[in-house]
Amino acid sequence: MDHQQLPKMSSKPTLLSSPLQGFTDFRFRNAFHYYFGGIDTFYSPYIRLNGKLVIKGAYERDILPENNSTLNVIPQVMTNDADEFLFVVKFIRQFGYKELNWNLGCPYPMVTKQGMGSGLVKNTEQIRHILQRVHNETDIVVSMKMRMGYDDASEILDTLPMLDEFPIKNIAIHARIGKQLYKGGVDLEGFQRCVDKAKHTLYYNGDITTVDSFRKIRNQFPSIEHFMIGRGLISDPFLPQMIQNDSIDYPENRWQIFKEFHDRVYKEYDEYLSGPTPIKMKMRGFWEFFALSFDNPQKTFKKIKKANNAVQYNQATREIFREVLRK
Ligand SMILES: Cc1cc2nc3c(=O)[nH]c(=O)nc-3n(C[C@H](O)[C@H](O)[C@H](O)COP(=O)(O)O)c2cc1C
Repeated sequence: MDHQQLPKMSSKPTLLSSPLQGFTDFRFRNAFHYYFGGIDTFYSPYIRLNGKLVIKGAYERDILPENNSTLNVIPQVMTNDADEFLFVVKFIRQFGYKELNWNLGCPYPMVTKQGMGSGLVKNTEQIRHILQRVHNETDIVVSMKMRMGYDDASEILDTLPMLDEFPIKNIAIHARIGKQLYKGGVDLEGFQRCVDKAKHTLYYNGDITTVDSFRKIRNQFPSIEHFMIGRGLISDPFLPQMIQNDSIDYPENRWQIFKEFHDRVYKEYDEYLSGPTPIKMKMRGFWEFFALSFDNPQKTFKKIKKANNAVQYNQATREIFREVLRK
């Protein structure tokens, strides 16, 4: 359907940044917020413990208040163990956080085979056990982020009624199942079944990549007021702002803003990462998404992939931006 045919939205939605481990850390979040805005709250990528009650320095830096001074941030944990959960609660409490988001969405077999991420969705008893301990032993606000299951989108339907026993702030649902990874479309019928069943407030997540796709989702689920955007925010950082304005028009200086944003992201990571390979890989990761903003994503990304050192990288980005700035 053409976007022009869709009705304008009456009230402003609340947009949240869905975390992407390796991408949406505090450096990216701050740069994004400075140049674009439109996001109400950022979920930080998950904190995961590796069998020991120790938090890695990178996780700590990511949520330090001084690194997030202009942002609303909610930390996230990925675990299937009550002691780990409680340990992370204590850890984030020292920085003043009042809410912890629980990741039951990660689809990767390394995680799901251990009964974590989307592999935990069907384990109603373990989820209940953890929530009981967390609510008995702390006053942390818990929110959840789930896929609809690992093997089947009905898994969540058995879990949702149990969640009604707990004061969960909200449940964000990525409308896929784990074994899909990121393939195939979102299952909106499955999401509708969740809407019909859930008593808690649901947030929608999955494949909001354009104003048009947002409008379609919003029209289909009029009771949903919160929308989480993950990859779409990196591939088109103007998207949240445009959704908020209910407009498909980019600002006139779109590419100048994009270039300045890119330059800041590059500078931040270049200062932080040592050696030529990590920064090359980091920027290559971003460009897999950034390239989607350009007319010919494949050609654009190829230019970045061919750049093997800083000089070549700068040359490639100069060329890419020169072309669009000329328009
Ligand atoms: C590279 C990558 C890293 C991700 N890391 C996280 C994470 O740390 N925590 C989380 O809840 N979801 C994570 N996700 C899932 C996204 O937050 C989001 O739920 C998913 O991509 C669907 O939303 P989207 O279509 O708007 O991207 C990750 C996704 C990708 C592609």
